[in-house]
Amino acid sequence: MTALPSTLQAPVEAPQVLDRCRELVRPALAEAVGRMHPWVGEMAAYSFGWCEVGGAPTGASGGKGVRQALAVLGAEAAGAEGRAGVPAAVAVELVHTFSLLHDDIMDGDAARRRRPTVWKAYGTGPAVLAGDALFALAVETLAAAPGGPQAVRLLSVALSDLVRGQADDLLFAARPWRGPQRVRPEEYRAMAEHKTGALLGCAAALGALLGGAAPSVADALDRAGRHLGIAFQVVDDVLGIWGDPAVTGKPVHGDLRERKKTFPVLAALDSGAPASRRLAALLDAGGDPAESATLIDTLGGRTEALTEARAHIAAVEAALADVALPARPVEELRSLLEYLVRRDL
Ligand code: IPE
Ligand code: MG
Ligand code: MG
Repeated sequence: MTALPSTLQAPVEAPQVLDRCRELVRPALAEAVGRMHPWVGEMAAYSFGWCEVGGAPTGASGGKGVRQALAVLGAEAAGAEGRAGVPAAVAVELVHTFSLLHDDIMDGDAARRRRPTVWKAYGTGPAVLAGDALFALAVETLAAAPGGPQAVRLLSVALSDLVRGQADDLLFAARPWRGPQRVRPEEYRAMAEHKTGALLGCAAALGALLGGAAPSVADALDRAGRHLGIAFQVVDDVLGIWGDPAVTGKPVHGDLRERKKTFPVLAALDSGAPASRRLAALLDAGGDPAESATLIDTLGGRTEALTEARAHIAAVEAALADVALPARPVEELRSLLEYLVRRDL
């Protein structure tokens, strides 16, 4: 069973499978980005971490590439060679990047991966356009792959879910901490599955589809990815409150300061204990985040969040055990699972 962090004291090493898949996918991803309008392509390359503003190469390989790895592993889980999953890998990386460009505008975030966000560096209009272009390129890439129409359909479902999750996430911000309008943990669960899980599941399922898998295999991988998304998001929330800023790269108690509706807070408020009224009042007043963090812990918010994450990790394992898959890709999927719930992306 994966050991879950309730704080994070040291960075967790990225599994080798990420490097292997990134190297396999990189030429096709670079070729796709190379077909974009040069200015728009520069924004895409900047957000992949490949270049600076102005286009000077960084020499960096880019983000972790979790979604592209899931697509390659999906193809391998189907018994095909990893390269069969490359068009899926390219498409999901493009869609992920598109969603981040637009998300940073929606969230008003000025930095991502310790660099200015695309809208900060290039302007909001250009960043919206670059997101649109990435989306279009993703569809084009997938449509050209064998099994294209069905693949495009799968991607569309994931995108609709992602939009649903983002919409709920935005609406949660305006909801009160207490009373009948408060956000319940089960609403959070659905939001996280849609916002994060849908694309993770889709990545693995698309890879499997292009690898010629039976629908039951693609379904199982999709389910696994959705649970993985919830587990990841809940762990991210725990680290957002109790993680070591030197390791997470995020300010201490950042999520509390921003009054985010994270799982530990919602679980603590849902307990109905007298101290939950004190917590709601503190959050309403923008009081001391350290005191809120202690109250959330006392009310069981941290423990419940870790229990929640564990349940979804078990659901990932159960989904993978539901179908007969070759041992190696399953082992590598497990190493990714371990990594994702142990560290911040
Ligand atoms: C981003 O969600 C998820 C999508 C882009 C769909 P968040 O807003 O919660 O995540 P970060 O912190 O900006 O990456
Ligand atoms: Mg965001
Ligand atoms: Mg957001």
